[in-house]
Amino acid sequence: SFVQPSSSPHLASEEDEQKYANVNWEELGFGLIPTDYMYVAKCKQGESFSEGKLVPYGDISISPCSGILNYGQGLFEGLKAYRTEDERIMLFRPNQNGLRMQTGADKLCMTSPSEEQFVKAIKKTVLANKKWVPPPGKGTLYIRPLLIGSGAVLGIASAPEFTFLIYVSPVGIYQQTSSGLNLKVDHQHRRAHSGGTGCVKSCTNYSPVVKKMQEAKALGFSDVLFLDAATGRNIEEVSTCNIFIVKGNVVSTPLTSGTILPGITRKSITELARDLGYQVQERDISVDELLEAEEVFCTGTAVVVQAVETMTFHDKKVKYMMGEETLSTKLHSMLTSIQKGLVEDTKGWMV
Ligand code: COI
Repeated sequence: SFVQPSSSPHLASEEDEQKYANVNWEELGFGLIPTDYMYVAKCKQGESFSEGKLVPYGDISISPCSGILNYGQGLFEGLKAYRTEDERIMLFRPNQNGLRMQTGADKLCMTSPSEEQFVKAIKKTVLANKKWVPPPGKGTLYIRPLLIGSGAVLGIASAPEFTFLIYVSPVGIYQQTSSGLNLKVDHQHRRAHSGGTGCVKSCTNYSPVVKKMQEAKALGFSDVLFLDAATGRNIEEVSTCNIFIVKGNVVSTPLTSGTILPGITRKSITELARDLGYQVQERDISVDELLEAEEVFCTGTAVVVQAVETMTFHDKKVKYMMGEETLSTKLHSMLTSIQKGLVEDTKGWMV
């Protein structure tokens, strides 16, 4: 079987307790801290997912011939659980991740759990790992759902079996920087092309950016901003997040026309910026405009809302507005106040 069977309920061992006691809640970064349980559901091709089960978090066994290992047939999602001051545990728009998984599954020829099954499974996994949701102000519980072709397939085809798996890890800040991000525009490599998988959270969108990120980091940058494949003139997406530019009263972000990820934080931020009276435009944005912006920021589940301090394109480096007065600071505060339950959730985003 895919998951090593557990013959007895998972009782907290001394080792488990030690693992929990060793967590430094004051200095959570963005690395895996294994928790107690993961959720696993399977479905045969042509059938639907039925209720999965919680099993102890641990390694899985999988066919060497599986769709994911051979052909990259897999999607992931990312969302977070927040512990509020009054000890509630909240999820931010989990149904949106469920819907995005469905779109991706269709693209990669997989069966996906329904939106309801997705949200129910997330709740179940978070509740089973409740003690791992960091105290308010210390971090969040990052939730990583996977949908993979787990069945064996030798010729190129969809796998005969799919697995929906969810694991979680307490996390803190994604990119530790003393101020904002220092991005480098990559004018040579493309992340996605029209008609491809750039618009879904396919596992295969992420490994190809690692080398570019590493090279940029070696030069002192935080990350890479990719351009569109068609013209090489317009900005698209940073390796792990969406991008926004601000000039005057106009906030612009690249259009989700098939090559960039429709981020849930991106969507929420466009709504909050409109609420603040900004004109929000989703459209093509040229590198020239990027370099002339007053303020630039990134959004994503992991990064939340993070200001960009500098942008480098070839040998040109520009510096953007930073600090308390910026729109990104305001939007970060508005969004995280909702997520942490500090203000009334008038949008109905929290579960
Ligand atoms: C997220 O923000 O959840 C992402 O998917 C980025 C991830 C690659 C760390």
